[in-house]
Amino acid sequence: MKRRRFLQRSLQAAALAASPQLSLSLSRQPEHDYILTAEEQPLPVLPDTSSALLTFNGQFPAPVIRTRQGEKLRIHFINKLPQETTIHWHGIRLDNAMDGVPYLTQPPVKPGATFDYEFTCPDAGTFWYHPHMHSIEQLGRGMVGALIVEERNKPAFDADVMAGFKDWRLNSDGSFMPLSEPRHAARAGTLGNVATVNGRQLPEIAVPANATVRLRLLNMDNSRQFAISLGDTPARVIAIDAMPVPPQALEVHDLGVGMRLDLGLHTPAEAGVEIPIYDRKGRFLQKVCSLRTTAPLRSGSPPPIPVLPANPVSEPDLSQAETHRFVFEWAGAMTPVSKDGHAHHEFWTINRRAWAGMHSANLPEPLAELSLGKSYIFELHNATPHGHPIHLHGLIFKVLSSDRKTITPFFTDTILLEKNERARIAFVADNPGSWMYHCHVIEHMKTGLMGYIRIS
Ligand code: C2O
Ligand code: CU
Ligand code: CU
Repeated sequence: MKRRRFLQRSLQAAALAASPQLSLSLSRQPEHDYILTAEEQPLPVLPDTSSALLTFNGQFPAPVIRTRQGEKLRIHFINKLPQETTIHWHGIRLDNAMDGVPYLTQPPVKPGATFDYEFTCPDAGTFWYHPHMHSIEQLGRGMVGALIVEERNKPAFDADVMAGFKDWRLNSDGSFMPLSEPRHAARAGTLGNVATVNGRQLPEIAVPANATVRLRLLNMDNSRQFAISLGDTPARVIAIDAMPVPPQALEVHDLGVGMRLDLGLHTPAEAGVEIPIYDRKGRFLQKVCSLRTTAPLRSGSPPPIPVLPANPVSEPDLSQAETHRFVFEWAGAMTPVSKDGHAHHEFWTINRRAWAGMHSANLPEPLAELSLGKSYIFELHNATPHGHPIHLHGLIFKVLSSDRKTITPFFTDTILLEKNERARIAFVADNPGSWMYHCHVIEHMKTGLMGYIRIS
């Protein structure tokens, strides 16, 4: 007994003696939450082949970054590519210096160099990340990943699954075909020929039976536009581009490049049931992937689909708002391919200006100068026969109206403009900095359809 007590005491004493270091090592914060390394990595997209992917951390799908609303996210980025890059956090209302736009918000991250991204995510939802340099190649060869910001109070879903869409341009031996063809860049964009979801062709995503499921869809492709349908399966749209909406039945939802869609659904009561997810083309339903039920979670009926809490986005004051007009147009100038093999085409313009590319610190003037804190209405006119998902960095805007469809106003970071569509959006210019404003069809942005606005 005595002996034991002595041993306990001395152990306590030892623990106490060690405690300064112990508590130091326990309380010391790691300098980052994630390390992301950009690197080339051969991986099998098609079975029994290998494709020269550009990856984050040597993997595809890229690591899913998870954080919580209102918390600081720190990402140590290492560039092991033989070319410069930056990482952009699509849809996050962050500090301009962390937005990952070369020359505009940071110098390019050189081969072998590192950059620490550190920012807080004020909004919860489904976001994504990708480079903002050499985008046709870097995104086209695999550098796209999901960024999930969890709600402060996690909504009560039984399962939370995601489907990230990314098509590839591959020959049958796995080698890449040219990622961009001028005649397609000048139209809807060059499409892939191998469709994948979460890096696999037509995968089945396991979900519990008799459960309430959150399904996050992310269009991380360079060019493809989806018309999402679940066929006969009832589902509810609960968020569009990360921003919660009053739950509404899903019919067909157009998902342009860069856009996301959160659905809530109840899975059938039995295991082994397939729930196909379709891309609807006219009357034709093309399956892109499916959910497949595993063992039922319960015997009774699943709980109701939670309503997501609104994000803290300011309401624009339309009575005081100043209006700016933007026309997206076809310029049509096609210049020959230069000696370095790069095509310097400028097909597209915003207000008659084509973005000439981000090759130096010598940037053009902003498309608009806005005053911090004021409300603005942007009138958008797509004067082309092609769809354009128009994206604004660093802000969330409200879609007010369209001359093509009835709009129930909703918040988003990307608006898909149909051919010849006119739409009005509004927002409070509450985030200072220079924010890119571009079409997210990667070839369109690279051939003119890009610019930026400045808020100060
Ligand atoms: Cu996904 Cu310039 O953005
Ligand atoms: Cu963005
Ligand atoms: Cu476009």
